Amino acid sequence: MTNKIAQFVALVALFIQCGTSVYAQKTSAKNIDTRVAALLAKMTLEEKIGQLNQVPGDISTGTDVAKDDLLTQIRSGKIGSLLSHTNFQNKITMQRVAVSETRLGIPLIFGFDVIHGYKTIFPIPLAQAASWDMGIVEKIERIAAEEASADGQNWTFAPMVDVSREPRWGRVMEGAGEDPFLGSRVAEARVRGIQGNDLAANNTLAACVKHYAGYGFSEGGRDYNTVDMSEQRLREMVLPPFKAAADAGAATFMNAFNTLNGVPASMNKFLLENILRGEWMWKGMVVSDWNSFGETIVHGAAADDVDASAKCLNAGSDMDMAGGTFQRGLKRALESGRVTQAQIDEAVKRVLHLKFALGLFDDPFRYLDPKRRNETLEKPDYRTFAREAAAKSMVLLKNDGGLLPLTEGSRFKKIAIIGPYADSKGNKDYMSFWTLGLGMREYDSTKVVRPAQALKPALEAMGYQVTITEICIDAMCTEKDYSAAINATREADLVIACLGERGLDCGESRCVSSLNLPRDQERILSITGRLNKPIVAVLFNSRPLVFDWATQNIPAILVAWQPGFETGNALADVLTGKVNPSGKLPVTFPKNLGQVPLYYNHLNTGRPQQQQGQMWTSGYLDSPVTPAYPFGFGLSYSQFNYSNMKLTKPQYKMNETIEVSITVTNSGKVAGEEVVQLYIRDISADIARPVKELKGFEKINIGAGESRVVTFRLTEKDLSYWNNEAKFKADPGKFKVFIGGNSRDVNELDFELIK
Ligand code: GLC
Repeated sequence: MTNKIAQFVALVALFIQCGTSVYAQKTSAKNIDTRVAALLAKMTLEEKIGQLNQVPGDISTGTDVAKDDLLTQIRSGKIGSLLSHTNFQNKITMQRVAVSETRLGIPLIFGFDVIHGYKTIFPIPLAQAASWDMGIVEKIERIAAEEASADGQNWTFAPMVDVSREPRWGRVMEGAGEDPFLGSRVAEARVRGIQGNDLAANNTLAACVKHYAGYGFSEGGRDYNTVDMSEQRLREMVLPPFKAAADAGAATFMNAFNTLNGVPASMNKFLLENILRGEWMWKGMVVSDWNSFGETIVHGAAADDVDASAKCLNAGSDMDMAGGTFQRGLKRALESGRVTQAQIDEAVKRVLHLKFALGLFDDPFRYLDPKRRNETLEKPDYRTFAREAAAKSMVLLKNDGGLLPLTEGSRFKKIAIIGPYADSKGNKDYMSFWTLGLGMREYDSTKVVRPAQALKPALEAMGYQVTITEICIDAMCTEKDYSAAINATREADLVIACLGERGLDCGESRCVSSLNLPRDQERILSITGRLNKPIVAVLFNSRPLVFDWATQNIPAILVAWQPGFETGNALADVLTGKVNPSGKLPVTFPKNLGQVPLYYNHLNTGRPQQQQGQMWTSGYLDSPVTPAYPFGFGLSYSQFNYSNMKLTKPQYKMNETIEVSITVTNSGKVAGEEVVQLYIRDISADIARPVKELKGFEKINIGAGESRVVTFRLTEKDLSYWNNEAKFKADPGKFKVFIGGNSRDVNELDFELIK
């Protein structure tokens, strides 16, 4: 056989083997539009509507939707995308059918919720935000994208950038907390990590910024509930992280479930056309949330599938996740003149553009390489980094008398580790529902390093005797549990109480009406706490919780959040001082639920209350208005002191840069990291402004006894706000600038902005 023929035969074999698309040629940004237009011209209406249809896979993350035989639907061109498919081989089969057994061979795009890791699980996003370390956030997303792309996913439904002040909301754990500035920095870092520098590379994913918009302000902290707010609040509190993610190049957005001022987000022209595609000139593709097109009917804002299809497409939404609304209603919407062919074409072009940009037309199996999959998933250094990230996200709330860290040669000899989360093997404990890459049924809890599993050997190596007493396992605590806790405490010199929430009680559709430690766990503390033994309370939580008795009586409290795979090792590193805790709260912890919503960047009101009981002021008869722990708060084993705060001058013109600096000294005995935070207050604007607004932060490492000067620079943009003339501008007048290690304990200076 001559060489030429052999080469031809090999090429044909390769084509048959991997069903390479007929479009196989190097995709470059400049020719994507050309190729999209050429392909669109060949497509029938049914094929176009098929591209706008996304069908769920083997995991349901929403209301169950009928799933006909997927391969039949793919063959008939009715599906453009699939989501939540965990089976690698099935994805290869489905992709091969799409590119080899359909008329035009358009590849599928596979979407997945990669929320805090894929096969290696990291701390929940709220915990990552508590690290205030954007390098950590970005690297977590980079690793998650490496794993997910190696397992055949092309598109992740992340970052979730919903700002929220609602601790009752189950999804507060998915975001970056209550502040739009911190939320914006986190959003950018996530998009960078997810998308890398080249969407067509086989180790990057398309990002999906969600939930656009306002979901975090659902009334009562209830999922899917009504959202009503002024445009001023929308512009200042909700939209900045979305804009930051769009500016960072995010390829897609996702509609929110909620109505915003009466209009469901999926059909909200103001959000989609006016702001996202108009003002921001963002060109990407918008996917619905799970059946959110269809839910416009349930909201009562659409009459049927035809009406819902027309309203959602007209508003600027493109792809229908898990609802089939477009499949049932879009063709009739066209025939009845409710939408135009051009509008359908525009949505299809955005979907095709994404697939070309991902390189799926060049090589539909680029993300389905078994060899790369085997080499990539669960690499040991991913887990090593998970341990570092978890330790750096933990927040030390109390440490009276320097009880922590536990060191060798201390006065304590016997340590009792107690509580429901001392050594839990519960489904997704120390994690969250949003770990779908691990599947749901075949979940293997042995992959999580449990607290006792790591703490016991670590403490024994330091000479301690350690007992483990699990109580209240996944149930209400009973007298039997409490007596077990009392006995363990009596036998010990020091107690580590591991309390908190179940992993599966964190996330979507997991909202609560009480912020107390669930299942009456706080009684463990109030009972053992009266036995005059020092107690370290470790909370595994996904939201702010209320534990006022503990705050008054327990000497050491550590918020560990849901730390992921390396829970035990990270906790041992922090409790033994191997890692000096540096986390800061990205969300306010209230004293009680009655104070909610309670957040740091509030307005002053005309009658601010200085202390509880002060009459004729904005407060309560039965509670202070101050939180248990404020936004930005977190302790260290070091002691950081702030001094010598300086402004370069007292007055600045509009276009000048304001420079403010401060000296931070570590007067402690160990090196540590401090998050130095910068806030402003516009004292006399055209409208009332928050008493504080975060405008900068820097996480720095300072050696024992050393000092560092930290300098921040502010511009007119930093001082601007959305005013009552619907303009984003700064007002001349008096300002305060604050710097500190949290939003309450700050140094302040005044300056004036002049025309
Ligand atoms: C869910 C969530 C959304 C997720 C989607 C796919 O209902 O609201 O955040 O990406 O469905 O699982």
